Amino acid sequence: MKLLLKVVRRIHKVPAPCTSWRCFGSPANSGLLHVRDEELVVGSTREMVQRFRTHVEVRPNFISEEEETALMQELELGLKKKRYEFDHWDGAIHGYRETERLRWGSVCEGVLSRLRSVAFPEGSSLLGPVHILDLDKAGYIKPHVDSVKFCGSTIAGLSLLSDSVMRLVKEGGTDEWLDLLLLRRSLYIIRDQARYDFTHEILKDEESSFRGQRVPRQRRVSIICRNLPV
Ligand code: OGA
Ligand code: MN
Repeated sequence: MKLLLKVVRRIHKVPAPCTSWRCFGSPANSGLLHVRDEELVVGSTREMVQRFRTHVEVRPNFISEEEETALMQELELGLKKKRYEFDHWDGAIHGYRETERLRWGSVCEGVLSRLRSVAFPEGSSLLGPVHILDLDKAGYIKPHVDSVKFCGSTIAGLSLLSDSVMRLVKEGGTDEWLDLLLLRRSLYIIRDQARYDFTHEILKDEESSFRGQRVPRQRRVSIICRNLPV
């Protein structure tokens, strides 16, 4: 288990220095409670959102409340044995605990095979164990790009227990960015250019807003599937 977790940890590469917090304006308020599916992604320009439509996907209500409960039941015992870490060795994540899982009960396996069938092309080789990341209410993920050595073109994640905002920022000092509203029980998929050329991050509670509307962060558990590099 220790060895596998080491590999998981090595997927985080933090670009240095990290300056992406400062370059954002606040998009206009659109009324979060009535947000439509196509409004779950907002960007530096409308053209950006269009251009990345196939690279960035958010599917609200991808799992039911019952499935969320079943997933948490499988995970909670193992997670509770660990303490939240507030100083990650490579600085990518703050206030988290993590684990990974290879075998699941039937309800959870059903969810994961549904996820795999929508996120990955048929016949893709996937990273065996699924990565579970438990962020404390005060936890957050700083901008980083997952290691190209260990992970392939596609990252797909389920968000449990809390809404959150994922921010993608183009590397190389341009002003291009995309914000994704990750509602509780939604699935996000980031592929290809959006995965390789943009950093991704999960905003801390104090910064967590979407289209100018606050998105309070609670404890958030994510279940992340990745494919292998070719
Ligand atoms: C990661 C990461 C996103 C998430 O662990 O590398 O970016 O949804 N996680 O938790
Ligand atoms: Mn990542």
